[in-house]
Amino acid sequence: MCGIVGYIGHRRALPLLLNGLRRLEYRGYDSAGIAVPHGGGLFIAKRAGTVAHLAAMLEHLNLPATMGIGHTRWATHGEPIDRNAHPHTDATGRIAIVHNGIIENHAILKAKLLEDGYGFVSDTDTEVLAVFIGALYQQYGDLELAVRTALSEVEGTFGLVVLSADHPDLLIAARRGSPIVIGVGDGEYIVASDATAIVEYTRSVFYLSDDEMAVITRAGCQTKTIEDIPTSAQLLELEFDLERIEKGGFPHFMLKEIYEQPTTFRDACRGRLLLQEGNVKLGGLRSVEEQLRQARRLIFTACGTSWHAALVGEYWIEQLARLPVEVEYASEFRYRNPVLYPDDIVIAISQSGETADTLAAVREAKLRGATVLGIVNVVGSSIARETDAGVYIHAGPEIGVASTKAFTSQLAVLMLLALYLGRMRHLSPTDAREIAQELARIPEKLQYVLDTTAELTREIAHLYAHAQNFLYLGRGVNFPIALEGALKMKEISYIHAEGYPAAEMKHGPIALIDENMPVVVIVPRDELYEKVLSNMEEIRARRGKIIAIVTEGDVAAARLATHVIPIPETLPLLTPILSVVPLQLLAYYTAVERGCNVDMPRNLAKSVTVE
Ligand code: AGP
Repeated sequence: MCGIVGYIGHRRALPLLLNGLRRLEYRGYDSAGIAVPHGGGLFIAKRAGTVAHLAAMLEHLNLPATMGIGHTRWATHGEPIDRNAHPHTDATGRIAIVHNGIIENHAILKAKLLEDGYGFVSDTDTEVLAVFIGALYQQYGDLELAVRTALSEVEGTFGLVVLSADHPDLLIAARRGSPIVIGVGDGEYIVASDATAIVEYTRSVFYLSDDEMAVITRAGCQTKTIEDIPTSAQLLELEFDLERIEKGGFPHFMLKEIYEQPTTFRDACRGRLLLQEGNVKLGGLRSVEEQLRQARRLIFTACGTSWHAALVGEYWIEQLARLPVEVEYASEFRYRNPVLYPDDIVIAISQSGETADTLAAVREAKLRGATVLGIVNVVGSSIARETDAGVYIHAGPEIGVASTKAFTSQLAVLMLLALYLGRMRHLSPTDAREIAQELARIPEKLQYVLDTTAELTREIAHLYAHAQNFLYLGRGVNFPIALEGALKMKEISYIHAEGYPAAEMKHGPIALIDENMPVVVIVPRDELYEKVLSNMEEIRARRGKIIAIVTEGDVAAARLATHVIPIPETLPLLTPILSVVPLQLLAYYTAVERGCNVDMPRNLAKSVTVE
């Protein structure tokens, strides 16, 4: 949520900052701004709207500055207008900061500063911090000390970068709860809220830990705690390349990422499936193998799409390992005084690894003594670092705000986990082998689904793009896919959509069905197939329009449906991995048809790092 970029080195800063902001824009896109030293003071430009708006305003400028900071915002405190955009400055206008997170005690700090005669021009908590740092700088005459002192009095979360006109060779970055990664080049440093802004300049990076800061000059970078205790930075190599964060000929990141799924699914399984043995190798769980063997219950905690993946995981693990599983919204788990036993394992699922609610749930579970694992995409993210062990999904950067490839990669890892836990318990090598072998065939089936359903879903989207509501129904392991299909539809097309277990329809939602209601029914041939057919009959009797996701060659379901989207045969347990893809495409084409900004849906941002 919100993107930060900072630069110090030998290149012209302005184009690099704007480029970084474009890369980070998926994290927030309601306003953007930059600050660079210029003519003995600071040049600051900021405005509501996208980075393109800001760039258009600056395009004629050729500022010589070789350091600066930039920000792209997702508003929390104060509406998205020019004066609330970052960077914010102190009272002298000579210190500027960009900030992600929330300063929770901003009201108290502001009241004190107002008493001391300071004024404010924005409605933001960040400006309070900027003015506070400026006031301390006036007192101490030492910028680093001023930043450290301010941060030690601040409550809440921050990832920030500070720049001062008095110090044209100094950037100060700090973190508590909001990620900061620093790219190390040849005589240059790039500070960012995520590595996508860095990878085209250097692959060598390090992450700040909570309550750690970096004091960066062109000659070097020192890291320390905000209590001034030196720390040592651990350099890492970024694993992805530039291609992964560009659209590569696709009109939107979301479509590109939908099409990456055969590859990303394969990557999630790579080296982990032991086909001959009918088993699975998950290196990241080796250190907790004994706890997993002894576990009497798993509790998944997650938000949004990751929560839907957890629901599928629940079916799979209960089925294959006969281990009880609970799935909790992270935002509920953290506040519900959860009952945890010593042999419970809590597993957080998160694409970004930064979702505030999920991170808080991880901390809550750890506090209560549970073993806490992570299923995460972003390497080095907060959840990856704070969990006891875990499994990366290796989906590569996901830029589209609507999560697609991360979902199917989470499913890949959850099925691997189900097999792993199953083999520790009662699952026979023969049964595990059958599933593992089919899992290995999924990438080519995903490709087939993409090849055969894209045009079909585009045509259906054209017919229903005017709809006010959509209903999604599925049963068993495909019920979470109904939820996920509905979430995709509402978040990018703004059509109201609800997902239900198909049999629940008669307990209320059936009242909504008439000839204007498109109902997406996921009805693969599995043990609940006949039951779902009966639900389709009920919809048909009320003249609802049925868009059915069916197993290829299924004539009975096709006869009841208004539109049919076939998916290839697979093991019933694995159908969610295939059935979700046409639903992603349906949401995508509907949003395009309605002229929505698919990659930047209104009011959303890629990772929700605030409560
Ligand atoms: C998915 O399309 C959403 N944008 C959103 O629900 C997302 O899945 C949720 O915020 C959780 O994010 P995470 O996986 O990064 O924790």
